Amino acid sequence: MAVASLSLGTDPVSAQGPAQGAPAAHGPTFNKDVAPIMFSKCATCHREGEVAPMSLLTYEQVRPWARAIKSKVISREMPPWGADPRESLPMRNDMSLSEAQIATLVAWVDAGAPRGNPADLPPVPTFTTGWTYGSEPDAILEMPVEFEIPAEGELGVQMFYSKVPWNEDRFAEVVELRPGNAKVVHHAGIFFVDIPEGTTLVNGRIVGPDGKIIGDRGSAGLPSTDSGLPGSSKLLSWVPGRGLDRHRPNVGKRIPAGKYINWQLHYNPTGKVEKDRSRLGIWFNKVPVTHEVLIRQAGDPLATTKGGLSLYRAEGEEVEYKADPSSTRRSRTTPNIPPYAENWSLTGITPVTEDITLYAMSPHMHLRGKSLKWVVTYPDGRDQTILSVPRFDFNWQFNYELAEPLKIPAGSKITGIGFYDNSPKNKWNPAPHLEVYWSEQSWDEMYQPFTEYSVDSQDLTKQKAGPTTSAPPQQR
Ligand code: HEC
Repeated sequence: MAVASLSLGTDPVSAQGPAQGAPAAHGPTFNKDVAPIMFSKCATCHREGEVAPMSLLTYEQVRPWARAIKSKVISREMPPWGADPRESLPMRNDMSLSEAQIATLVAWVDAGAPRGNPADLPPVPTFTTGWTYGSEPDAILEMPVEFEIPAEGELGVQMFYSKVPWNEDRFAEVVELRPGNAKVVHHAGIFFVDIPEGTTLVNGRIVGPDGKIIGDRGSAGLPSTDSGLPGSSKLLSWVPGRGLDRHRPNVGKRIPAGKYINWQLHYNPTGKVEKDRSRLGIWFNKVPVTHEVLIRQAGDPLATTKGGLSLYRAEGEEVEYKADPSSTRRSRTTPNIPPYAENWSLTGITPVTEDITLYAMSPHMHLRGKSLKWVVTYPDGRDQTILSVPRFDFNWQFNYELAEPLKIPAGSKITGIGFYDNSPKNKWNPAPHLEVYWSEQSWDEMYQPFTEYSVDSQDLTKQKAGPTTSAPPQQR
């Protein structure tokens, strides 16, 4: 990820040698100006046991990286954050640096990275280990088995299943997936499903009457992750650095009793045999839940009513495709991405059929994913871009949480505009000469503009049992 165009000029850091202890007469110092930025914007990942390769908490740890820090913050590669602030609404989990913070870091490096006055140094914040959220979860659910990852080879997405351990639906305000072994977990997803009739769970796998495992990716009889729930069956997806999913105090993610938790884990072998047993931390809502958060992709009919129409428009074909409402996979209707196509576009248009409140958006594409943008068209025809991720990065798939939830009236449309680069110019492209299909593997493609919202007319505190709810929503 070198920044070729960046001119670093002479290197004051190595040229001057360690400027330890010498407080700069003017200009930023580590103790006064840089440490607070490291603590608030870098340390979530750059500390022991977290995703980044080195800790950035002390002067001794930061100084050797001064030059790299300058280049990474100027290019805005660090902290990783994909939303273009000019074309996106403000996000409450925005990790990016302000212009002023970037200027401070650059000036500090250019001045030889001085340490400054020890009295200026704020205390190193204390971080919880194990969970990103500041407390122990109310409930911790574990993968049903410890999985052994072979030293080498390409592993398909591993599917494990365990039963939701409660007799009634519960609602989560915060959920976090914590890898058992961060070295090997490449990405993960948690869904709720039914398991097919006549099957049993053996060691966390679904086994059919003939003794064969049937819950694996690509195998026949795979439980659909899209059906069977009032809202959506997705709980979360996780990539390194994503941290946790935080909903609003009175808006919860339903954890449906009677369903099975589908753990989808994608592992990267490390060269030696590794083990993983990932865990799911759940913090229940602390106030009565009025609304259920639904996670759909723009392209599924948004809101609860049946029969919403979604259109997909694939560039090059100039044909409109009606989405298959029973599936999030576009394979049946969407044309494949042609070889070498550099700027291939797929647009999902979703009618909003009831008044909704939108909370967060999460772009999911694979290695050809180039950009993704959400545009709301209101009933009066006005367009509003609410999130633009101009340089989609497969390695950093964030959940963009609106600072203020957005009310979207019935009669609006949400358009998700995705672009793909299947040319050799895309440095992640594994095979530009091949046509790209829509499927699960990272060398196939996906178009999943996940959108979190609730339906305004819903009030779970007034409502009796919902369609799959056997008891009123339960609070802790
Ligand atoms: C969300 C997690 C996350 C945050 C927040 C973050 N980093 Fe990083 N950083 C990483 C990871 C992971 C890598 C290694 C992979 C990569 O380079 O993308 C990295 C790499 C780097 C590197 C390059 C290291 C090398 O080997 O060249 C620098 C420099 C850096 N980060 C600085 C920072 C600074 C400064 C901040 C805060 C202003 C910051 N990072 C915030 C996750 C993060």
